[in-house]
Amino acid sequence: MVKFNKYYFKVCIVGDTGVGKTTLLHQYLNKRFKSDAETTIGSNFFVKYVKLPNAKQLITLQVWDLAGQEHFKWVRSAFYKGARGIIYVYDLTQKETFYNLIKWKEEVESSIGIVPNVLVGNKLDLIESQNSIIDYEECTFLKNNLTSRYYYETSAKYGTKVDEVFSKLTQLMFKIYQE
Ligand code: GTP
Repeated sequence: MVKFNKYYFKVCIVGDTGVGKTTLLHQYLNKRFKSDAETTIGSNFFVKYVKLPNAKQLITLQVWDLAGQEHFKWVRSAFYKGARGIIYVYDLTQKETFYNLIKWKEEVESSIGIVPNVLVGNKLDLIESQNSIIDYEECTFLKNNLTSRYYYETSAKYGTKVDEVFSKLTQLMFKIYQE
């Protein structure tokens, strides 16, 4: 029988197809850019052990990478069950992926309600001036709508802020779910 440690958190990473969910995860786990990431079919999951400065025990993260394509919607709802954290990802170069996160939130919350989450704008390296195409007000609107207090702009290509995303979500979950 598999024995899980006390702090075992399931996390789902969601957002439109092509925003870089698989690539972010690959960068987090392997510290490398996977330039040939193929579109996710259904879902994959990965396990990572995390040590937080304020926790004695290792925390086990089980991260589910869910396919962003519309026709996998029917598979996804089953995989949200038991998730204690969500990473909402959009592509900084594709504005519609930002607004589509409202639909993602509805899909997630109709399944599991509100859980700790972080908002991520990915592909920072593709923004020439390093200024997001999403302005401050828009971002505040979405953060409020997602009830997400934490926002990161990442580059899964260069690893920018990738560790911070997972570390912040782990801290949020630990704070809420520790007994
Ligand atoms: P689905 O599996 O279809 O839901 O897509 P996904 O969100 O997992 O996207 P994926 O990780 O497959 O990335 C899509 C494309 O964007 C790939 O060609 C990646 O190499 C590229 N990509 C992802 N993140 C970045 C980034 O930060 N910078 C750049 N330049 N390219 C990226």
